[in-house]
Formats: sequence, C-alpha cells, structure tokens
Amino acid sequence: MRQIVLATRNGYKISELRTILGDLIGELDLEIVGMGEFPDIPDVVETGVTFAENATLKAVAAAQATGLPALADDSGLSVDVLGGAPGVFSARWAGTRGQDRANLELLLGQLCDVPDEQRAAAFVCAAALALPDGTVVVREGRMPGMLAREPRGDNGFGYDPILVVDGDSRTSAELSFEEKNAISHRGKAFRALAADLREVFADR
Ligand code: IMP
Repeated sequence: MRQIVLATRNGYKISELRTILGDLIGELDLEIVGMGEFPDIPDVVETGVTFAENATLKAVAAAQATGLPALADDSGLSVDVLGGAPGVFSARWAGTRGQDRANLELLLGQLCDVPDEQRAAAFVCAAALALPDGTVVVREGRMPGMLAREPRGDNGFGYDPILVVDGDSRTSAELSFEEKNAISHRGKAFRALAADLREVFADR
C-alpha cells in the first residue's frame, strides 16, 4: 500500500477525499493519511492571496515534512459583484475564523441591495499535489450558483445555505452528501488531480 498525505487535520475532509477518489484508491493501492498522524509537524500559516497559492503552500510543506506525496486544498466563496471576495478570506469574513453563521449573515447584509440577476457566485477550490522531489501540480474546480436572500437547508457547512446551485432550485445545503460531491468544486478539483496521481504512481 502506498501512502499519500492530505494536509489537513480535519477528519471530515479525509473521508470526503476517500469518497471522491474512491476507485483510484483501489486501483493504485493508495492509503490516504491526514496530518493527525504527524502531531509534531506544525500547521502552515496560509499567507497566500489566491486559492492556488494557499493549496500549494500546504501541499509543499506537508510533502517536505513527511517525505510523502501530499495533497492539499484551499477553497472559498467567490462573489462576482464583490470582485471575487470573500475568496481566500471566506472562513474569517466576519472577523474570526470558523464562524459560519456570522460570515454568511454579514455577506447577505452587504448584498441586500444587489438585484437577483446580479447575485452570481461560485464555490472555488484549488487542489494541489506536491511530491517530495519538489514537483507541484494544481487543479481548480468551481461550483457556480446564485446567492439567495435567506439561508435554506441544514446540510454542509459554511456558505452552503445561501448558494442556490445552477440548474437546481435548491441551495447547496439542501443537497445530499452524494449530490454535492458529484458537482462540488472540491469534487471537480480532486477528480482533475486524479489523472495526475495516476501518472505519478503508474511508474513507481
Ligand atoms: P477551507 O478550504 O477549509 O480553507 O475553507 C474556507 C472557507 O470557505 C470555509 O470555512 C467556508 O466558509 C467556505 N467554503 C469552502 N468550501 C465550501 C463549501 O463547500 N460550502 C460552503 N462553504 C465553503
């Protein structure tokens, strides 16, 4: 079995990635481990100003510190009328990291005068693969939609209750786990990286 590390201590993200890469894990005999297996390695400060920069920072640091191929992602909500914000600041838009409800309420307030047809937004994810030899590949995925005026739905996290998914009348928080994985920004970015993983591991 070949180990690959996902640069996160979030167990939810590790199981999500195992689901997204399902078939490939069996095909390449991969074992995905998280940074929880390496408690002495410090977390990386996300100093990048783009999703790709932050995903690269995290993947490169994890590959160097563990000596394993490493995957990392960085994601957020990008709102057209805000020029792409909250973007890399999505998790801390209301000031403190991790306050999902405060973040989305602040955003809804900021956009209260914006008409329905101008409320386009997308979840964006950059997924990076870094090898201990310094090779880095980054792929991006987007999940487009329109911002609602009120939160709806109990699934997911973050801004899920306010993004009405393109081609659907439901918000992202009204989709099942499987429905969201099939169209999500993270699903698309990591499925795109699957081709790179296959290439890297094919000749090892
Ligand atoms: P990170 O990828 O954990 O850094 O996520 C950054 C932030 O972006 C999260 O805290 C959420 O606020 C937002 N975000 C990223 N992906 C999603 C999603 O799938 N649904 C809702 N919010 C998301």
